[in-house]
Amino acid sequence: MKIIKVKDYEELSKMAADFVRNLLEKKPDACLGLATGSTPLGMYQNLIEMYQKGEVSFKDVRTYNLDEYCGLEKTHPQSYFTYMHEMFFNHIDISENNINLPEGDTANHEEACNSYNELLYNDEIDLQILGIGGNGHIGFNEPGTAFTQETFVVKLAEKTRLDNQRFFNSLAEVPEFAITMGIKNILQAKEILLLASGKGKAEAIKKLVSGEVSVDFPASALKEHANVTVIIDEEAASLL
Ligand code: F6R
Repeated sequence: MKIIKVKDYEELSKMAADFVRNLLEKKPDACLGLATGSTPLGMYQNLIEMYQKGEVSFKDVRTYNLDEYCGLEKTHPQSYFTYMHEMFFNHIDISENNINLPEGDTANHEEACNSYNELLYNDEIDLQILGIGGNGHIGFNEPGTAFTQETFVVKLAEKTRLDNQRFFNSLAEVPEFAITMGIKNILQAKEILLLASGKGKAEAIKKLVSGEVSVDFPASALKEHANVTVIIDEEAASLL
């Protein structure tokens, strides 16, 4: 695991966007695994600016998002479908056909997991972008999730619902379940880029760097992958 320490969120976002741009220069039809949440927003913004300047194109790029809430309509303001379109896809030249997210808005979530897993089996993610939860979750793989887990319906940890409450009007509105790529799917990516910014991530980064590999800390699974880069800012690195 390669750790790169940068000054602040701005630098982290630029470096992460450069990482993606470098990949697309080499492989314009690359497949990207994408994350939502606060952390990658700056990276998306930088990529949009690069696109607007003609420095990068997503014309032939395919994307797979890590996760989606269960029970929210696609058009719900807090669905990850909406987030990805508003924060990234609507501003670049990606083809809608090349965009993939788990289907959270369905009566049959098991079937939605199976079909997402099938899609992932028939493709290969070149670069998976990850954030990290305060409890070490990656995607919505909460502590206790087996490293062999594939796409599944997860009951969100109370801590995760509380962390995400800021995007909803109340805790009651935060969905209790989500569909997420499993840790096994994540580890199948050729390369992984994990981003962490701010004091709130310092404890998790300390555990990631110096803790042992354990299902109690899902991000530790990344130590079993040969090509992982972690970009952290000074605050996230403050306990190292
Ligand atoms: C988002 C996701 C989550 C977040 C994590 C950190 O698709 O899978 O694992 O990456 O919860 O979220 P932020 O970036 O909001 O701190």
